Amino acid sequence: MRSMLVTNIGELVTCVPGQGEGPLGIRRQAALVVDDRKVAWIGRAADAPPADGRVDAGGGAVVPGFVDSHAHLVFAGDRAGEFAARMAGEPYTGGGIRTTVGATRAAGDEQLRTNVARLRQEALRQGTTTMEIKSGYGLTVADEARSLRIAREFSAETTFLGAHVVPAEYAGRTDDYVSLVCGPMLSAARGAGARWVDVFCERGAFDADHSRAILTVGAAAGLGTRIHANQLTAGPGVRLAVELGAASADHCTHLTPEDIDALAGSATVATLLPGAEFSTRSPYPPARALLDAGATVALATDCNPGSSYTTSMPFCVALAVREMAMTPAEALLAATAGGAAALRRDDVGQLRVGARGDLAILDAPSFLHLAYRPGVPLVSTVMLNGELV
Ligand code: NIG
Ligand code: FE
Repeated sequence: MRSMLVTNIGELVTCVPGQGEGPLGIRRQAALVVDDRKVAWIGRAADAPPADGRVDAGGGAVVPGFVDSHAHLVFAGDRAGEFAARMAGEPYTGGGIRTTVGATRAAGDEQLRTNVARLRQEALRQGTTTMEIKSGYGLTVADEARSLRIAREFSAETTFLGAHVVPAEYAGRTDDYVSLVCGPMLSAARGAGARWVDVFCERGAFDADHSRAILTVGAAAGLGTRIHANQLTAGPGVRLAVELGAASADHCTHLTPEDIDALAGSATVATLLPGAEFSTRSPYPPARALLDAGATVALATDCNPGSSYTTSMPFCVALAVREMAMTPAEALLAATAGGAAALRRDDVGQLRVGARGDLAILDAPSFLHLAYRPGVPLVSTVMLNGELV
């Protein structure tokens, strides 16, 4: 494996407070060496050690690769018509999930694999070097297992979301479906290499008792826990996430003051998904209140064909700054180190010696441009595992 020196960096944004200026640990006149998949050296460019190869950042900012901790990539079809109806005034209810379940069940493995590959590649080009991938559009033992097997080809961070909705064939028999999820489906998910278990805890999906049951058996089976919480209503999801010590409560759109205090006093990360509010024309989550209370905040895309069909972490950063009153620094930290915290990872989301060699070079002198120049493809070069992609 060749070592590589990254030099001529406009600003090196380490996302390690204390490793440079301000909350993002920014270093100037700095260079970085990756070797054997990892960051091997960070220091003054003038002191850079020799390396096998050299990458000229052209005066652009270098940031850690984005960590997208919430994405539903294994599906077939799209729901552009549903989006158009929403933009004409229809509300989002999650009912379209069953449409995608039908299309996904009908698709062949190769079609699903090709779709995941396309979306993963699209995200990578925009700087996403770690991407969680959920199942949740199969909802049979076999279809959830194959979704997870395909997801595992693209990411180590795969999540079993058999409890996305109750599928049509179990209508009126939620208890029976929850038994299936907790039994054979969970076993198959483990066999397919799932690392996490997730539940859509929401009116019309799974209530607190069902969600608790699924997450508890999932945790007992060795999976980490995360919850789709408080997306459409101020329901019990966030409090359940904190009660169970879940790694993350995702969405957090409708929060009570008690929910905010509970998150702030816990190790559960509040993962905000502004692409969903954008695409469902909903109010944005109270990021400012969460940050001011001391909660750890992550930003992720929620990429899925219904509520948020974007793979772009820079777009989410721009939304967080413009619509959620996060500072550009808070937003970048949430999109990198925050996502890593939501996945309980300490080897990604930061540039420090020993971290994975994952970074993005921007065609801009400062990370501020991620929000300042919305919609512009600013990521010019991506390094994944110490290799240019
Ligand atoms: O995170 N809310 C549940 N799941 C997805 C949406 C899925 C869909 O509409 O297909 C979400 O927003
Ligand atoms: Fe989601």
